[in-house]
Amino acid sequence: MFERLKEKWKVNGWGLLIILLTFALAGTGTGYLGKLLMNALKVRIVWVYILIYVVVITFLWPFMVIITSLLFGQFHFFRNYLWRIWNMMTGLKKTDSQLDTSGKRDGVRLAIFASGTGTNAKRIIEHFRDHRFIKISLLVSNKQTAGAISIAAQENIPTLIIEKEKFFRGNGYVEEIRGFGIDLIILAGFLWKLPASLVSAWNHRIINIHPALLPKYGGKGLYGHHVHEAVINAKEKESGITIHYVDEIYDHGQPILQEKVVIEENDTAETLAKKVQALEHLHFPKVIEEVAKKLRL
Ligand code: GRF
Repeated sequence: MFERLKEKWKVNGWGLLIILLTFALAGTGTGYLGKLLMNALKVRIVWVYILIYVVVITFLWPFMVIITSLLFGQFHFFRNYLWRIWNMMTGLKKTDSQLDTSGKRDGVRLAIFASGTGTNAKRIIEHFRDHRFIKISLLVSNKQTAGAISIAAQENIPTLIIEKEKFFRGNGYVEEIRGFGIDLIILAGFLWKLPASLVSAWNHRIINIHPALLPKYGGKGLYGHHVHEAVINAKEKESGITIHYVDEIYDHGQPILQEKVVIEENDTAETLAKKVQALEHLHFPKVIEEVAKKLRL
């Protein structure tokens, strides 16, 4: 049972212990405060007492859970947990498996591929957290330690760790990713070149972001700080971001958006990286949303 919970909530043993402790303390606190309130109300008729007690407990419990989760640093988990309960109770948000009568899902499911710190992945996840029909359904990484993995775990997004051999010489994980019903793939700092099987399975439905104005400063080996160093060394006057569809050639597919930043005389690779990153965080989620909306039409 504990193993299943760890898997479901994407936490390790300590994480599970803290979550269970939060539940236990919040439950005890709810019972205690509920009793205090009922004593203060001095209700004598049994059925009225029970009715009020149920109402009091129902409203008190989520409140106590949030307070306790703050104490244990588990606010993200419990906010999402309560939000899901609320959606289930009100029926506001359909569950993943609900299909319309034509058999089509009524939402667009996104997979984010990320190998690094994951600041873009974080922005994208936050942008779509409560979206009406676009959902981040999977986070794929080649590194268990990637920052994006822990962000996904906090948000209860399923993760898939891929291995080189299977990715390049196997099926490119096409079947596994299909299993999550993914409509659109977002590369947010994913360093491996995609195999042909994956590119053709999601033809024109894979987007990448590159921290320079392609076609300049793209291709193999030009990633992260290497890009900004090359731009600064070449004494360019401007750089920026390119968001583009992905084909089988590195940093090559059809551009969707380019945005520029001016490079000042005293800019270094580090200061340029910061300027470019600000542009990425501003534009990438919005562009993804536009592309995903078109997929739904
Ligand atoms: C970004 O600069 C993006 O343009 C590139 O990889 C970097 C990822 O950064 N493709 P982060 O991990 O999202 O911070």
